[in-house]
Amino acid sequence: MPSTRAHSRPFEHAWHDALYGPKGFYRTAAPVEHFRTSAHASPLLAKALARLARECGLSGVVDIGSGRGELLNALADVGPGLELVGVDVVPRPTSLLPSARWVDSPGGPDLPDLGGAAEGALVVANEWLDDVPCPVLQVDDRGRLRVVHTTREGSQTLGDPPTAPDLEWVRRWWPVDGAPPGTRVEVGRSRDLAWASLVRQAHNSVLVAIDYAHHAASRPPTGTLVGFRAGRQVAPVPDRSCDITAHVAMDAVAEATPDVTSSVLTTQREALQLLGITAEPPPHALATQNPTAYLAALANAGEAGELLARDGLGGFVWLVQSRGPQVPPLCP
Ligand SMILES: C[S@@+](CC[C@H](N)C(=O)[O-])C[C@H]1O[C@@H](n2cnc3c(N)ncnc32)[C@H](O)[C@@H]1O
Repeated sequence: MPSTRAHSRPFEHAWHDALYGPKGFYRTAAPVEHFRTSAHASPLLAKALARLARECGLSGVVDIGSGRGELLNALADVGPGLELVGVDVVPRPTSLLPSARWVDSPGGPDLPDLGGAAEGALVVANEWLDDVPCPVLQVDDRGRLRVVHTTREGSQTLGDPPTAPDLEWVRRWWPVDGAPPGTRVEVGRSRDLAWASLVRQAHNSVLVAIDYAHHAASRPPTGTLVGFRAGRQVAPVPDRSCDITAHVAMDAVAEATPDVTSSVLTTQREALQLLGITAEPPPHALATQNPTAYLAALANAGEAGELLARDGLGGFVWLVQSRGPQVPPLCP
């Protein structure tokens, strides 16, 4: 009988197959059935992105990791006239409005040829990069960094030392010299490369990556790898039954490509507020003057509150990079 070790392989590979292999999680499951993103929470995200596209003089929006097209459908409502393109690993969702185009993608770090769709567009990736598998490393009992391996059932062991390029990334972005055994590093190089490959396809465009992230001064010592299933956080077992995700080292992603004319890192809260989203409740007087408008404005304020919450979606990081167009200020 083969030993457990024989079934064990680098976590990154098991993660990739569990999400994007044949019958992988994302080939069958709709994100909205398992967790709530800003795109699910409110059409106000679409409203803000439509405004950003307009202010940058862009004629369309390309949504990388489109799920079932929730953001695109909201954009069709709030940004009439925008050319909309969705990209994901499933065939075109039946719920997608007919005016939007759809491109199938291989998944993970790999993108299809967008055939010019990303030129002159706002290219949005809401919670794509956290789903790009990356090597997971751990400091062993002798203080050496080794690659975390896993079985399909989720039992983890330590394998070889990391590759030279991964080690170089660790030294630059997530140094762990002298850290105690058990310390982990999630090597963001695969996310940097994935983002750079998207930027290369986006001429005269503005790109926005939105994700839960950390930066050099706030790397989590035991990593951030988790699973999500049916609205709950679960162990990151690569058996295709759950999403597997790890936070993004967005400061590294921001420096992944030299081809940009401007680059801003900010929070969702700051960006959305500067794009006109506010959680201010409507004046009480409106309740008597126009009760319907009052209730609508109240619901709006509630949704905005969720998108702006400092310890929730508002704390997500926005990386906004331009390859030509002028971008309005997005941090205070
Ligand atoms: C966390 S979900 C986010 C879905 C949607 N953006 C939202 O905000 O609700 C990540 C999505 O990215 C998709 N995805 C992963 N890698 C991709 C790739 N290389 N190209 C296109 N979509 C990808 C997954 O299939 C999944 O639908």
